[in-house]
Amino acid sequence: MKVLVTGAAGFIGYHLSEKLLARGDEVVGIDNLNDYYDVNLKLSRLEHLKAHQAFSFTKLDLADRAGMEQLFQDHAFDRVVNLAAQAGVRYSIENPHAYVDSNLVGFVNILEGCRHSNVAHLSYASSSSVYGANTLQPFSELHNVDHPVSLYAASKKANELMAHTYSNLFKLPTTGLRFFTVYGPWGRPDMALFLFTKGILDQQPINIFNNGQMIRDFTYIDDIVEGVVRVTDKIPTANPEWNSDKPDPSSSFCPYRVFNIGNNTPVKLMDFVEAIEKATEKTAIKNMMPIQPGDVPSTCADVSALEQEVDFKPSTSVQDGVNKFVSWYREYYQK
Ligand SMILES: NC(=O)c1ccc[n+]([C@@H]2O[C@H](COP(=O)([O-])OP(=O)(O)OC[C@H]3O[C@@H](n4cnc5c(N)ncnc54)[C@H](O)[C@@H]3O)[C@@H](O)[C@H]2O)c1
Repeated sequence: MKVLVTGAAGFIGYHLSEKLLARGDEVVGIDNLNDYYDVNLKLSRLEHLKAHQAFSFTKLDLADRAGMEQLFQDHAFDRVVNLAAQAGVRYSIENPHAYVDSNLVGFVNILEGCRHSNVAHLSYASSSSVYGANTLQPFSELHNVDHPVSLYAASKKANELMAHTYSNLFKLPTTGLRFFTVYGPWGRPDMALFLFTKGILDQQPINIFNNGQMIRDFTYIDDIVEGVVRVTDKIPTANPEWNSDKPDPSSSFCPYRVFNIGNNTPVKLMDFVEAIEKATEKTAIKNMMPIQPGDVPSTCADVSALEQEVDFKPSTSVQDGVNKFVSWYREYYQK
Protein backbone atom coordinates (compact mmCIF):
# COMPACT_ATOMS: atom_id res chain seq x y z
CA MET A 1 0.00 0.00 0.00
CA LYS A 2 1.00 3.59 -0.49
CA VAL A 3 0.49 5.42 2.79
CA LEU A 4 0.71 9.14 3.52
CA VAL A 5 2.03 9.69 7.04
CA THR A 6 1.81 13.31 8.14
CA GLY A 7 4.11 14.36 10.96
CA ALA A 8 6.58 11.67 9.83
CA ALA A 9 9.47 13.48 11.52
CA GLY A 10 7.53 13.49 14.79
CA PHE A 11 7.69 10.95 17.58
CA ILE A 12 4.73 8.73 16.66
CA GLY A 13 4.96 9.41 12.90
CA TYR A 14 8.57 8.26 12.84
CA HIS A 15 7.81 4.97 14.61
CA LEU A 16 4.71 4.35 12.53
CA SER A 17 6.65 4.94 9.30
CA GLU A 18 9.35 2.48 10.40
CA LYS A 19 6.70 -0.16 11.07
CA LEU A 20 4.89 0.35 7.76
CA LEU A 21 8.17 0.26 5.83
CA ALA A 22 9.23 -2.92 7.63
CA ARG A 23 6.11 -4.70 6.44
CA GLY A 24 6.59 -3.55 2.84
CA ASP A 25 4.36 -0.51 2.49
CA GLU A 26 5.47 2.55 0.57
CA VAL A 27 5.47 5.60 2.82
CA VAL A 28 5.26 9.23 1.78
CA GLY A 29 6.08 11.39 4.79
CA ILE A 30 5.35 15.07 5.20
CA ASP A 31 6.25 17.40 8.06
CA ASN A 32 6.82 21.14 8.37
CA LEU A 33 9.78 20.52 10.71
CA ASN A 34 8.69 23.34 13.01
CA ASP A 35 10.77 24.32 16.03
CA TYR A 36 8.20 23.58 18.76
CA TYR A 37 10.99 21.32 20.01
CA ASP A 38 14.54 20.49 18.92
CA VAL A 39 14.54 20.30 15.11
CA ASN A 40 17.69 18.17 15.15
CA LEU A 41 15.77 15.36 16.82
CA LYS A 42 13.23 15.52 13.98
CA LEU A 43 16.03 15.52 11.40
CA SER A 44 17.68 12.51 13.06
CA ARG A 45 14.44 10.55 12.93
CA LEU A 46 14.14 11.46 9.24
CA GLU A 47 17.70 10.31 8.56
CA HIS A 48 16.70 6.84 9.73
CA LEU A 49 13.60 6.83 7.56
CA LYS A 50 15.49 8.03 4.49
CA ALA A 51 17.59 4.87 4.65
CA HIS A 52 14.55 3.01 3.28
CA GLN A 53 14.03 3.04 -0.50
CA ALA A 54 10.27 2.96 -0.09
CA PHE A 55 10.29 6.18 1.93
CA SER A 56 10.07 9.65 0.44
CA PHE A 57 9.79 12.95 2.26
CA THR A 58 8.39 16.37 1.43
CA LYS A 59 8.72 19.33 3.76
CA LEU A 60 5.20 20.67 3.75
CA ASP A 61 2.83 22.47 6.10
CA LEU A 62 -0.66 21.00 6.47
CA ALA A 63 -2.02 24.54 6.38
CA ASP A 64 -0.48 25.19 2.93
CA ARG A 65 -3.62 24.68 0.89
CA ALA A 66 -2.04 24.76 -2.55
CA GLY A 67 0.85 22.55 -1.44
CA MET A 68 -1.54 20.01 0.03
CA GLU A 69 -3.67 19.97 -3.12
CA GLN A 70 -0.54 19.33 -5.16
CA LEU A 71 0.53 16.51 -2.83
CA PHE A 72 -2.77 14.68 -3.31
CA GLN A 73 -2.56 15.27 -7.08
CA ASP A 74 0.95 13.87 -7.25
CA HIS A 75 0.16 10.63 -5.40
CA ALA A 76 -2.64 8.09 -5.19
CA PHE A 77 -2.65 7.18 -1.51
CA ASP A 78 -4.34 3.99 -0.35
CA ARG A 79 -4.32 5.19 3.24
CA VAL A 80 -3.70 8.49 5.00
CA VAL A 81 -2.60 8.62 8.63
CA ASN A 82 -2.71 12.18 9.95
CA LEU A 83 -0.37 12.58 12.91
CA ALA A 84 0.92 16.08 12.17
CA ALA A 85 -0.53 18.56 14.62
CA GLN A 86 0.43 21.17 17.10
CA ALA A 87 0.63 18.98 20.18
CA GLY A 88 0.87 19.89 23.86
CA VAL A 89 -1.71 21.16 26.31
CA ARG A 90 0.35 23.82 28.09
CA TYR A 91 1.63 25.47 24.90
CA SER A 92 -1.96 25.96 23.69
CA ILE A 93 -2.59 28.51 26.43
CA GLU A 94 -0.02 30.98 25.05
CA ASN A 95 -0.09 29.97 21.38
CA PRO A 96 -3.70 29.32 20.39
CA HIS A 97 -3.23 30.20 16.72
CA ALA A 98 -0.71 27.42 16.17
CA TYR A 99 -3.53 24.98 17.01
CA VAL A 100 -5.98 26.65 14.67
CA ASP A 101 -3.48 26.62 11.77
CA SER A 102 -2.24 23.04 12.08
CA ASN A 103 -5.13 21.24 13.72
CA LEU A 104 -8.12 22.93 12.13
CA VAL A 105 -7.04 24.56 8.83
CA GLY A 106 -4.54 21.74 8.27
CA PHE A 107 -7.11 19.08 9.00
CA VAL A 108 -9.58 20.51 6.48
CA ASN A 109 -6.82 20.28 3.87
CA ILE A 110 -6.34 16.61 4.78
CA LEU A 111 -10.06 15.92 4.56
CA GLU A 112 -10.31 17.69 1.21
CA GLY A 113 -7.30 15.81 -0.14
CA CYS A 114 -8.83 12.48 0.90
CA ARG A 115 -12.20 13.43 -0.49
CA HIS A 116 -10.95 14.42 -3.92
CA SER A 117 -8.58 11.50 -4.37
CA ASN A 118 -10.88 8.77 -3.04
CA VAL A 119 -8.60 7.65 -0.23
CA ALA A 120 -9.91 4.34 1.14
CA HIS A 121 -9.36 5.25 4.79
CA LEU A 122 -8.22 8.26 6.79
CA SER A 123 -7.03 7.58 10.31
CA TYR A 124 -6.01 10.55 12.41
CA ALA A 125 -4.64 11.37 15.84
CA SER A 126 -7.16 12.51 18.35
CA SER A 127 -6.25 12.49 22.05
CA SER A 128 -7.26 11.34 25.52
CA SER A 129 -7.50 15.04 26.29
CA VAL A 130 -10.95 15.07 24.62
CA TYR A 131 -12.26 13.54 27.87
CA GLY A 132 -11.58 16.94 29.45
CA ALA A 133 -13.56 17.47 32.65
CA ASN A 134 -14.94 13.90 32.68
CA THR A 135 -14.16 11.97 35.87
CA LEU A 136 -15.91 8.63 35.23
CA GLN A 137 -13.06 6.18 34.52
CA PRO A 138 -11.94 4.31 32.61
CA PHE A 139 -12.70 6.80 29.84
CA SER A 140 -14.89 5.10 27.24
CA GLU A 141 -15.63 6.11 23.66
CA LEU A 142 -19.28 5.75 24.68
CA HIS A 143 -18.98 8.69 27.06
CA ASN A 144 -19.96 12.21 26.10
CA VAL A 145 -16.89 14.38 25.45
CA ASP A 146 -18.30 17.87 25.28
CA HIS A 147 -16.26 19.48 28.08
CA PRO A 148 -12.68 20.02 26.87
CA VAL A 149 -10.47 22.03 29.22
CA SER A 150 -7.85 23.28 26.74
CA LEU A 151 -7.85 24.57 23.17
CA TYR A 152 -5.65 21.61 22.24
CA ALA A 153 -8.37 19.22 23.43
CA ALA A 154 -11.04 21.24 21.65
CA SER A 155 -9.05 21.07 18.40
CA LYS A 156 -8.86 17.27 18.68
CA LYS A 157 -12.58 16.97 19.42
CA ALA A 158 -13.16 19.30 16.45
CA ASN A 159 -11.19 16.88 14.26
CA GLU A 160 -13.56 14.09 15.23
CA LEU A 161 -16.57 16.25 14.38
CA MET A 162 -15.06 17.39 11.08
CA ALA A 163 -14.19 13.80 10.16
CA HIS A 164 -17.77 12.75 10.85
CA THR A 165 -19.10 15.24 8.33
CA TYR A 166 -16.80 13.88 5.61
CA SER A 167 -17.73 10.30 6.50
CA ASN A 168 -21.35 11.38 6.09
CA LEU A 169 -21.18 13.64 3.05
CA PHE A 170 -18.53 11.86 0.99
CA LYS A 171 -18.58 8.36 2.55
CA LEU A 172 -14.92 8.82 3.47
CA PRO A 173 -14.11 6.12 6.04
CA THR A 174 -12.45 7.84 9.00
CA THR A 175 -11.07 6.58 12.31
CA GLY A 176 -10.04 8.84 15.19
CA LEU A 177 -7.29 7.56 17.46
CA ARG A 178 -7.45 8.81 21.04
CA PHE A 179 -3.88 8.26 22.22
CA PHE A 180 -3.14 8.18 25.95
CA THR A 181 0.23 9.74 27.03
CA VAL A 182 2.62 8.08 24.61
CA TYR A 183 6.24 7.49 25.64
CA GLY A 184 9.31 5.61 24.45
CA PRO A 185 12.60 5.97 22.55
CA TRP A 186 12.81 9.04 20.27
CA GLY A 187 10.13 10.60 22.48
CA ARG A 188 9.21 14.25 22.69
CA PRO A 189 11.48 16.65 24.60
CA ASP A 190 8.46 18.59 25.93
CA MET A 191 6.95 15.56 27.67
CA ALA A 192 7.41 14.36 31.26
CA LEU A 193 9.58 11.29 30.60
CA PHE A 194 12.12 13.25 28.57
CA LEU A 195 12.19 16.22 30.98
CA PHE A 196 12.44 13.97 34.05
CA THR A 197 15.17 11.76 32.59
CA LYS A 198 17.19 14.79 31.50
CA GLY A 199 16.79 16.45 34.92
CA ILE A 200 17.64 13.32 36.86
CA LEU A 201 20.73 12.50 34.79
CA ASP A 202 21.94 16.12 35.00
CA GLN A 203 21.03 16.23 38.71
CA GLN A 204 18.82 19.27 38.11
CA PRO A 205 15.42 19.78 39.82
CA ILE A 206 12.40 18.37 37.96
CA ASN A 207 8.99 20.06 38.13
CA ILE A 208 6.32 17.74 39.51
CA PHE A 209 2.88 19.19 38.84
CA ASN A 210 -0.18 18.92 41.08
CA ASN A 211 2.29 18.02 43.88
CA GLY A 212 2.60 14.58 42.32
CA GLN A 213 -1.12 13.85 42.59
CA MET A 214 -1.36 12.98 38.89
CA ILE A 215 -2.30 9.68 37.33
CA ARG A 216 -1.58 8.86 33.70
CA ASP A 217 -2.32 5.88 31.50
CA PHE A 218 1.22 5.89 30.03
CA THR A 219 1.24 3.94 26.76
CA TYR A 220 4.39 2.57 25.19
CA ILE A 221 5.12 3.65 21.62
CA ASP A 222 5.30 0.10 20.17
CA ASP A 223 1.81 -0.59 21.53
CA ILE A 224 0.51 2.66 20.03
CA VAL A 225 2.00 1.84 16.63
CA GLU A 226 0.62 -1.70 16.65
CA GLY A 227 -2.80 -0.26 17.44
CA VAL A 228 -2.55 2.36 14.70
CA VAL A 229 -1.49 -0.19 12.08
CA ARG A 230 -4.29 -2.60 12.98
CA VAL A 231 -6.92 0.12 13.06
CA THR A 232 -5.66 1.62 9.79
CA ASP A 233 -5.96 -1.80 8.14
CA LYS A 234 -9.54 -2.10 9.30
CA ILE A 235 -11.69 0.23 7.23
CA PRO A 236 -14.71 1.31 9.25
CA THR A 237 -18.20 0.71 7.91
CA ALA A 238 -21.55 2.15 8.90
CA ASN A 239 -22.87 0.65 12.13
CA PRO A 240 -26.23 -0.93 11.22
CA GLU A 241 -27.27 -0.81 14.88
CA TRP A 242 -26.61 2.90 15.25
CA ASN A 243 -29.76 4.51 16.59
CA SER A 244 -30.34 8.23 16.23
CA ASP A 245 -32.71 8.20 19.22
CA LYS A 246 -29.86 6.97 21.41
CA PRO A 247 -26.73 7.98 19.48
CA ASP A 248 -23.57 5.97 20.22
CA PRO A 249 -20.76 8.60 20.04
CA SER A 250 -18.12 6.05 18.97
CA SER A 251 -19.69 4.99 15.66
CA SER A 252 -22.30 6.20 13.23
CA PHE A 253 -24.72 5.57 10.38
CA CYS A 254 -21.77 6.43 8.15
CA PRO A 255 -18.22 4.93 8.06
CA TYR A 256 -16.89 6.64 11.17
CA ARG A 257 -15.18 5.31 14.31
CA VAL A 258 -13.16 6.55 17.24
CA PHE A 259 -10.94 4.34 19.41
CA ASN A 260 -9.03 4.79 22.62
CA ILE A 261 -5.46 3.48 22.44
CA GLY A 262 -4.17 3.37 25.98
CA ASN A 263 -2.56 0.96 28.40
CA ASN A 264 -5.59 0.59 30.69
CA THR A 265 -3.11 0.59 33.60
CA PRO A 266 -2.99 4.02 35.22
CA VAL A 267 0.25 4.89 36.99
CA LYS A 268 0.78 7.48 39.74
CA LEU A 269 3.20 10.21 38.71
CA MET A 270 5.47 9.49 41.69
CA ASP A 271 5.66 5.80 40.68
CA PHE A 272 6.61 6.94 37.19
CA VAL A 273 9.42 9.07 38.64
CA GLU A 274 10.53 6.08 40.70
CA ALA A 275 10.70 3.94 37.55
CA ILE A 276 13.02 6.55 36.00
CA GLU A 277 15.14 6.67 39.18
CA LYS A 278 15.49 2.89 38.98
CA ALA A 279 16.42 2.97 35.30
CA THR A 280 18.97 5.77 35.76
CA GLU A 281 20.18 4.58 39.19
CA LYS A 282 19.95 8.20 40.36
CA THR A 283 17.65 10.11 42.72
CA ALA A 284 15.44 12.91 41.44
CA ILE A 285 15.53 16.41 42.94
CA LYS A 286 11.83 17.18 43.04
CA ASN A 287 10.29 20.63 42.72
CA MET A 288 6.64 20.26 43.75
CA MET A 289 4.30 22.54 41.76
CA PRO A 290 0.55 23.20 41.51
CA ILE A 291 -1.51 21.75 38.66
CA GLN A 292 -1.08 23.65 35.39
CA PRO A 293 -4.04 25.31 33.67
CA GLY A 294 -5.58 23.00 31.06
CA ASP A 295 -4.16 19.83 32.62
CA VAL A 296 -6.36 16.99 33.80
CA PRO A 297 -5.36 15.15 37.00
CA SER A 298 -6.04 11.60 35.85
CA THR A 299 -6.49 9.47 32.71
CA CYS A 300 -7.29 5.82 32.09
CA ALA A 301 -8.43 4.23 28.82
CA ASP A 302 -11.17 1.69 28.36
CA VAL A 303 -9.77 -0.30 25.44
CA SER A 304 -12.50 -2.93 25.11
CA ALA A 305 -13.62 -1.52 21.74
CA LEU A 306 -10.07 -1.67 20.36
CA GLU A 307 -9.68 -5.23 21.62
CA GLN A 308 -12.98 -6.26 20.12
CA GLU A 309 -12.37 -4.67 16.72
CA VAL A 310 -8.71 -5.42 16.10
CA ASP A 311 -7.88 -8.04 18.74
CA PHE A 312 -5.17 -5.98 20.37
CA LYS A 313 -4.57 -4.34 23.73
CA PRO A 314 -1.44 -2.45 24.81
CA SER A 315 0.45 -4.29 27.55
CA THR A 316 4.01 -2.94 27.98
CA SER A 317 4.75 -2.25 31.66
CA VAL A 318 5.94 1.21 32.60
CA GLN A 319 9.22 -0.10 34.02
CA ASP A 320 10.03 -1.97 30.77
CA GLY A 321 9.09 1.04 28.66
CA VAL A 322 11.00 3.51 30.83
CA ASN A 323 14.09 1.27 30.76
CA LYS A 324 13.99 1.29 26.95
CA PHE A 325 13.59 5.07 26.84
CA VAL A 326 16.46 5.67 29.27
CA SER A 327 18.77 3.36 27.27
CA TRP A 328 17.91 5.25 24.09
CA TYR A 329 18.36 8.65 25.78
CA ARG A 330 21.77 7.77 27.22
CA GLU A 331 23.02 6.49 23.91
CA TYR A 332 21.57 9.29 21.79
CA TYR A 333 22.76 12.11 24.07
CA GLN A 334 25.93 10.31 25.18
CA LYS A 335 25.02 10.66 28.88
N1 LIG B 1 2.56 11.87 22.25
C1 LIG B 1 1.41 11.80 22.92
O1 LIG B 1 1.38 11.47 24.12
C2 LIG B 1 0.10 12.09 22.24
C3 LIG B 1 -1.08 11.89 22.96
C4 LIG B 1 -2.29 12.16 22.35
C5 LIG B 1 -2.33 12.60 21.04
N2 LIG B 1 -1.16 12.80 20.36
C6 LIG B 1 -1.25 13.27 18.97
O2 LIG B 1 -0.52 12.38 18.15
C7 LIG B 1 0.05 13.08 17.06
C8 LIG B 1 1.55 12.83 17.00
O3 LIG B 1 2.12 13.27 18.24
P1 LIG B 1 3.65 13.20 18.56
O4 LIG B 1 3.80 12.94 20.01
O5 LIG B 1 4.34 12.33 17.57
O6 LIG B 1 4.04 14.74 18.33
P2 LIG B 1 5.26 15.39 17.52
O7 LIG B 1 5.18 16.85 17.79
O8 LIG B 1 6.52 14.68 17.83
O9 LIG B 1 4.87 15.10 16.01
C9 LIG B 1 4.08 15.93 15.24
C10 LIG B 1 4.87 16.30 13.98
O10 LIG B 1 4.01 17.06 13.16
C11 LIG B 1 4.75 18.14 12.63
N3 LIG B 1 3.80 19.23 12.39
C12 LIG B 1 3.18 20.01 13.30
N4 LIG B 1 2.39 20.89 12.69
C13 LIG B 1 2.50 20.66 11.36
C14 LIG B 1 1.92 21.24 10.21
N5 LIG B 1 1.09 22.28 10.30
N6 LIG B 1 2.26 20.74 9.00
C15 LIG B 1 3.13 19.71 8.89
N7 LIG B 1 3.72 19.13 9.94
C16 LIG B 1 3.40 19.60 11.16
C17 LIG B 1 5.78 18.49 13.67
O11 LIG B 1 6.93 19.10 13.09
C18 LIG B 1 6.10 17.14 14.27
O12 LIG B 1 7.25 16.56 13.69
C19 LIG B 1 -0.32 14.54 17.26
O13 LIG B 1 -1.48 14.79 16.51
C20 LIG B 1 -0.63 14.63 18.73
O14 LIG B 1 -1.53 15.67 19.02
C21 LIG B 1 0.06 12.55 20.93
